[in-house]
Amino acid sequence: METKTKQISRRAFLTGLGVTGAALGLSACCPMGSLDHKTKAIDLVHGNDANLFPVYDGTAYSKKDFSRLTQDTNLGLSPENISHHLGLYAKYVDKVNQSEAEMRAGEITEFGMKNLAFSLNGMALHDIYFSNMNSTKSKASKALAKAINESYGSFDSYYRNLTNIATQVKGWSITALNLLNGKLINYGTEDHSANFPNFVMPILALDVYEHAYTTDFGTDKNKYIDTFTEIIDWDLVSRRYDAMMMQYS
Ligand SMILES: [Fe+2]
Repeated sequence: METKTKQISRRAFLTGLGVTGAALGLSACCPMGSLDHKTKAIDLVHGNDANLFPVYDGTAYSKKDFSRLTQDTNLGLSPENISHHLGLYAKYVDKVNQSEAEMRAGEITEFGMKNLAFSLNGMALHDIYFSNMNSTKSKASKALAKAINESYGSFDSYYRNLTNIATQVKGWSITALNLLNGKLINYGTEDHSANFPNFVMPILALDVYEHAYTTDFGTDKNKYIDTFTEIIDWDLVSRRYDAMMMQYS
């Protein structure tokens, strides 16, 4: 198995810390802090694909329309389940926008700081989760499949690790690019804002909070996890991986 030893670039490192191109002065076209400047910073991460990560317009994060999931009769998750869950996601977007506005106005409190982390991660992870579900079957790209094999030895081993984590935690099971070594890493959290490594960029998220599955599966969490693994949009996850690798290289 090939071992990747490339050192992380400064840009990727700082981007992983949430320091955007605007802060790095990567674009010389616009004054620091202008909308154009921030938009260019966002483009560094998104490319032209707004489906990959939360969208920030320079002022606030957008609520994305995931209603396709409520209309997908092959998803395995009911419209009631999805609709309720999307309502929670919308509240996270409102909360993080409120928290960021307070922070920029210099009004942030200790409670607000904690709320910012919880809401920002809650919004972003739900964005990733909803967008990486699709009943249309797809496969991981060659690049992603290679990365999975290099990181976990085999796809089966990777899958087993991801789902084992999902059964054991009460929050999220996540696949991310580890910016420190260029490998994929699975990790679990009990909370949006606790017990997660800093130097990673999530490319796939599985929500295992009870609100994600009890409407459809009661306490049968394993059945929900099995259902989720059947509807992972590997095409999108592959594009998300490509976008992160562009930052890494
Ligand atoms: Fe959730």
